[in-house]
Parts: sequence; C-alpha cells; structure tokens
Amino acid sequence: MAGFLEGKNIAITGGGAGIGKAIALAAAAEGANIVVADYGVSMDGSDPSSEVADAAVAEIEAAGGKAVAVAGDISQFDVGEAVVAAAVDNWGTIDGVVCPAGVLRERMLFNMSEDEWDHVIAVHLKGHFNVYRAAFARMRKQETGGSLVGFTSGAFTASTAQPNYSAAKGGIVSLTRSAAMTAASIKLRGGPAINANCIAPVAKTRMSENVPFEIETGEPGDIAPMAIYLMSDAGREVNAQVYTVVGRRISVWNQPEELRTMWAPGDQWSPAEIADMLPTTVGQEPNPFIADLERRMADMAKQEGQG
Ligand SMILES: NC(=O)c1ccc[n+]([C@@H]2O[C@H](COP(=O)([O-])OP(=O)(O)OC[C@H]3O[C@@H](n4cnc5c(N)ncnc54)[C@H](O)[C@@H]3O)[C@@H](O)[C@H]2O)c1
Repeated sequence: MAGFLEGKNIAITGGGAGIGKAIALAAAAEGANIVVADYGVSMDGSDPSSEVADAAVAEIEAAGGKAVAVAGDISQFDVGEAVVAAAVDNWGTIDGVVCPAGVLRERMLFNMSEDEWDHVIAVHLKGHFNVYRAAFARMRKQETGGSLVGFTSGAFTASTAQPNYSAAKGGIVSLTRSAAMTAASIKLRGGPAINANCIAPVAKTRMSENVPFEIETGEPGDIAPMAIYLMSDAGREVNAQVYTVVGRRISVWNQPEELRTMWAPGDQWSPAEIADMLPTTVGQEPNPFIADLERRMADMAKQEGQG
C-alpha cells in the first residue's frame, strides 16, 4: 500500500531530535524523502554538532528511506534557503516543510538579557520565516503546491518564565495565518493549493523535562501523524488552523476576533467616559493562564494547610 506521503519531498527543521526526529522517521516510513535540518545544539542553543542530523539520516536510510542532512543554524536566512534547496536539488520539488527546531532560554521578563530575547526570537520566529519564505516561493510555482507546518506552543497565550518563547510562538501563529491567507488568495485565483497550519505539541523530550508542575503529556511519536496528515493530499484543505496535539488528544484553537464593542457618546472618548462604561459594556475577557495560575496556587495552599 502506498504511504500517506508517497513520493513527497519534506524538510524538517530540528529533525535530528525530539518531536522533529519522530516526524522525520514517520514521514519517511510514509514514503517521503526527507531533509533533516538540524544544528545539533544543546537546549539553550550552544555547542552545535553535525552528528545529530547525520545520525537521523543514517537511521532513515537504515530503515530503507531516503534522506539528506543540512546541519546549519536555521535562524540564518540563507540556511532556510539551503534547507529547501536540498529537497529541490536532490528530488525536484519541495512538498512540505515542518519547523520544530527550537531552543529555550528561560528568564522572567524583568531579568531577561538582550541576548536571551534575541536568540529565542531568532531561532523560533525568524527560523520559521526563513524556511516558509524559501518554500512558499517555490510552492506557488509548483502545480502541486505544498504545505507549511509551523510549531507553536500553548505558551503562545502567555508564559511567566518564558516571555521570549511565548512572543516567538505567538509570532509563529500570526506568521502562519498570514501565509495561509496568501495561500488562500493564490488558490482562489486558480493557483496551486498551499496550506499553512500550526501544531502546539506536548511530548516528553528534553525540552519538557523541567516543567515544574504536572502536565498532560505523551510521546514525540504521538505528534507525527498530525504533521503527516496536514502535508498529505487528504489534509490539503485544512488551512489557517492551530491544533494542540498531545498523546491521543487533538484539539483545535479558536480564531481571534473582536467580541464586544462600545461607542463613544460624543466625537471621541474621554478617559472618564471609558472608566465609566468599560466595566459594564466591553469589559475584560478571562485569561486562561491567570485562571490556571490562581487554581494551582489555591491547590498548593490547600495542600500546605493539610500538611
Ligand atoms: N516538548 C514539548 O512538550 C513541547 C511543548 C510545546 C512546544 N514544543 C515545541 O515543539 C518543538 C520541538 O520541541 P522538542 O521538545 O522536540 O525539542 P528538542 O529540544 O528535543 O529538539 C529541538 C531540536 O531543534 C534543534 N535546533 C535548535 N536550534 C536550532 C537551530 N538554530 N537551527 C537548527 N536546528 C536547531 C536542536 O538541535 C534539536 O535537535 C519546539 O519548537 C518546541 O518549542 C514542544
């Protein structure tokens, strides 16, 4: 039986470890040729090594698949181009890109250094731009189009210890939705079908090892089927979505939209009029992260009271 990605050429950043590697192995097993793009760094982005990408390529080849390695730093514009070119030069097209490459440099906002901010934004957000840009430029000229699969996180809504990571992950959602809109307008004009979606995964890897509280989690291999589906012909109609994937659970996120409106009684609002009307009209929306924090603090206080 033909695989779900039979004959497709797929590039996977961070394809040498964790979730990216699980996707690389599973996509190869579904018939895809794989570019393993991995800088082989430690979790904070230091100590690069080409061995990580090479080892994943060897594993795919040992299982009977085809793969090539690109061991560059995905935050560099020309590495995005090199990753996509590796698929096109070796096999003729780029049919899908998946972008799980990532690092963590955790610090509260008020203690964060400029380098901690810049590095995390560069690897996650610019890394996505670099790959998406190079891939989209080719996909719009291919009759068969293609797929962009971004990697965000539930932390895109907010994260106290990772404001840099949260901002990058929010940026990835907006970048992916922008790519999806461009793809939709190309398709409406009779062009090729391109889809762009994000996965917010949770899985046991070195990155999730240090979460200081219990979370719902699963294995890196649990994430791969969704990435494969989104890049397959069967998933091509799915566009502009964010899906949480963890263990056996897949959930879709809502699309941001305005909920309530209030109008100035005169030509322009005064601050006093806003103070008067806002609490009883447009009001505020509950923030799930703050609500969760309140719940966890209350649980801790209860446990301490019992102990
Ligand atoms: N593991 C989780 O529970 C979890 C939760 C939410 C989001 N995520 C996201 O899923 C993605 C994969 O996470 P993971 O847990 O598999 O991480 P991981 O640390 O196991 O793997 C990340 C890979 O990215 C590579 N990488 C890092 N910087 C790079 C660079 N500049 N250029 C190229 N490659 C680089 C590393 O070498 C490594 O192989 C990440 O984007 C992460 O933010 C993971």
